[in-house]
Amino acid sequence: MPYMDLQTFRPLIAPSLLAADPLHLLDEMKAVQMAGADMLHVDVMDGHYVPNMTFGPQWVAALKKHTVLPLDVHLMVSAPTVVAPWFVDAGSNWISFHPETESHPYRLLQYLKSKKVRAGVALNPGTPWQIVVPLLPVLDFVLIMSVNPGFGGQTFIPEVLSKIMPLKALKPDLIIEVDGGVNVANAPLLIENQVDVMVAGSAIFNASSEVGVLPLGRYQDAIQHLRGNALYV
Ligand code: DX5
Ligand code: ZN
Repeated sequence: MPYMDLQTFRPLIAPSLLAADPLHLLDEMKAVQMAGADMLHVDVMDGHYVPNMTFGPQWVAALKKHTVLPLDVHLMVSAPTVVAPWFVDAGSNWISFHPETESHPYRLLQYLKSKKVRAGVALNPGTPWQIVVPLLPVLDFVLIMSVNPGFGGQTFIPEVLSKIMPLKALKPDLIIEVDGGVNVANAPLLIENQVDVMVAGSAIFNASSEVGVLPLGRYQDAIQHLRGNALYV
């Protein structure tokens, strides 16, 4: 059954595995799952579209065997049409790509939906939200990047949040994901702007034990603080 992965409460928290300890990835994944993560964000970088290289489809397939959480695959690659089927076959539940990289974004989104994968596009800080308008009929979500793509641990760019309301006005059920520099300090601003999914790498995996006062372990502590008390449908 498609699309049973989306809870009705917001915001969903998607730890970005880019910030996890790569040599203990399985343990890291299990730890954030136990700590209350709603989905897992997997950054795919090809060393061409962005100056970094990360996870390939074999990683997604391996992760899939060990988690029930939806895998949210963010393609930062020059040829998403070529690689998307690899990540579909590997078990991705959500896939986004950068529309500037694709000559036929509408067709790629149609393909993803035909495979029962949640279909999204990712907008760089310098990409206007209007690029999304013709794609809305086949779009499940928009990933709004709040840093330039390529690396974790960068500083949050708050101006990108102005893209949210115009998009929600055009399509109220559009899922909005924000990715990059999200932390406990700016999380309330995201909640105020009705963000549906918060991606957070450093804020979870590099969280210190002093982040909060809950005796729950630092990942759970960080996730609960990101989520705050916001529960809106
Ligand atoms: C950046 C990636 C992000 C990154 C977020 O290109 O798309 O998903 O992992 O990491 P933090 O939360 O550390 O900015
Ligand atoms: Zn990402």
